[in-house]
Amino acid sequence: MRPYAASVFGEMSALATATGAVNLGQGFPDTDGPEAVKRAAIRAIEDGRGNQYPPVHGVPELRAAIAAHQQRFYGPAVDPDSAVVVGTGASEILVASLLALVEPGDEVLTFAPWFDLYAAATALAGATLVEVPLAGPHFRPDPAALRSAVTARTRVLLLNTPHNPTGTVFTEGELAALASVAVEHDLIVISDEVYEHLVYGTARHVPFATAPGAAARTLTVGSAGKSLSMTGWKVGWATGPADLIAAVRVSRQHLSYVSSGPFQWAVAEGLALPDAHWRQFADALQHQRDLLCDGLAALGMPVTVPEGTYFATSDVRPLGYADGWSFCRDLPHRAGVVAIPHQAFHHDPHGGEPYVRWTPSANAPPSSARRCTGCGTPSADDPGRAGSGQDVAGTADDTVRPVLSSLTSTTTSSPSLTSPPSSARASLSPISLCTRRRSGRAP
Ligand SMILES: Cc1ncc(COP(=O)(O)O)c(C=O)c1O
Repeated sequence: MRPYAASVFGEMSALATATGAVNLGQGFPDTDGPEAVKRAAIRAIEDGRGNQYPPVHGVPELRAAIAAHQQRFYGPAVDPDSAVVVGTGASEILVASLLALVEPGDEVLTFAPWFDLYAAATALAGATLVEVPLAGPHFRPDPAALRSAVTARTRVLLLNTPHNPTGTVFTEGELAALASVAVEHDLIVISDEVYEHLVYGTARHVPFATAPGAAARTLTVGSAGKSLSMTGWKVGWATGPADLIAAVRVSRQHLSYVSSGPFQWAVAEGLALPDAHWRQFADALQHQRDLLCDGLAALGMPVTVPEGTYFATSDVRPLGYADGWSFCRDLPHRAGVVAIPHQAFHHDPHGGEPYVRWTPSANAPPSSARRCTGCGTPSADDPGRAGSGQDVAGTADDTVRPVLSSLTSTTTSSPSLTSPPSSARASLSPISLCTRRRSGRAP
């Protein structure tokens, strides 16, 4: 596991701390999920539900709510007793699934760029991650490339839609084509759909399990961290055929055994929130996405506008950089902002070279509120944030201010970032724009 000791998030977070940069690299909500869900957790604790070890595969109320959620949004019925497993976030479910379903020496096929856990979890299982590029700038899956990457050792196809980091939402047609590869080669599919409710515009999330031939071979993974903006609660789940769920239950119970006791009841209530809630949730995120993408485009970078997820991608070549790593290592010094290079999500050293991942401030109120010039956070004296405890400082250097304004509010041109990197580097010193900092592990 030595190759997985360090992560891009550790390096970039350290850089953010050292330079006082605003972190547009990490992807999690700025604000907590629904009040009703928080109150449900408090009630559960007070009522003594889940304060001691809850049932090992998930409390019946949550398993029933997950089954009802899948049926409500996607159609097929799910048996809450045999077809659902709850775990410590989608992360544990993914690790448990790979430990359960692959043997040392097997190959796990996935599209690159991938969520960083996929590489580490595949290595934990003693298997090899084989990557098939999702080529920029459109990042659409190529079923022919996938098919040609299958070998006699391929056991699992690990999919992710909506896709981190590209924001691609696989279409029904794409999923059908991928399903035909899985059927043809008898692959088990782990479909990571944690961003299922973070889908924008005309895009629609379609579970892979609904593609022809897929249901009997697919585990579908969800997360309350993403769907309910409660990333610290670590409640995740999988649904799927009873034999695959039974296998995951075996390995998962020897990892954390049980987790998140009272939060499981709260998540059960959250998954039953009315349709209006889910629409508003996606609309708020879409607003943030649009601000971010407009700002990035105004800097002179081609932007791949995401159809889903927290993430947007830009191509840094017009700013004078050949690759994302060098851009991201300079950016905190030059503009007080942290972003993440796609290269960190590839094994291929040239994979994703010119692309950088950015995340907007999820769940923040619309731009009518007064904002910190640096990070877009409403000012401390904004009535909407009174008493929030989030302090905002503005020590922006006037040269850099327009860059960050354009990243986080509306479209402002960016003289400093579009100037040659070396001269800009020499003339800009690190600045502290905003004392509000993010913490924790990043997706
Ligand atoms: C694609 C993807 N899958 C899974 C996870 C893990 O989700 P959780 O926080 O529920 O463990 C994340 C984020 O962390 C993610 O981006």
